[in-house]
Amino acid sequence: MSKPIYIINGPNLNLLGTREPEIYGSQTLADIETLCRNAAKANGFKIEFLQSNIEGEIVDAIQDAGKKGVAIIINPAAYTHTSVALYDAIKAVSVPCIEVHLSQPAARESFRRRSFVSEASVGTISGFGANSYLLGLQAVFDLLKS
Ligand code: DQA
Repeated sequence: MSKPIYIINGPNLNLLGTREPEIYGSQTLADIETLCRNAAKANGFKIEFLQSNIEGEIVDAIQDAGKKGVAIIINPAAYTHTSVALYDAIKAVSVPCIEVHLSQPAARESFRRRSFVSEASVGTISGFGANSYLLGLQAVFDLLKS
């Protein structure tokens, strides 16, 4: 059986739909999961989609992806800007990682300009709302097919 693409979501993304919709849009995380599942299926891939508010659980998910997955798409949310542990976890696994964001952090508060996760990722897609996930998936499909 083929290994899945892990799509890992960080803190507060469980609140999408009601959380600052003017910044993050009105789609829920479940809506985004459905979009990702359909896109993966149409391209012959499986996904493992998860969310946690807990940094250590996200580290565990990255390690699981390294053992049981083919690639990682991660929206690390606020841990983007703070977490050496996520940087180290991504560096420790050999599967490619693509960072995605709904908003464009570089155009927001100055504390959002630093991303520890970018420094360990193949690339970053941000600012396109839920479409950032689909663009991230397209990047993974291309990487895995090449
Ligand atoms: C976010 C951007 C982060 O700066 C923020 O902390 C989030 C969401 C995004 O998807 O736009 O929680 O990752």
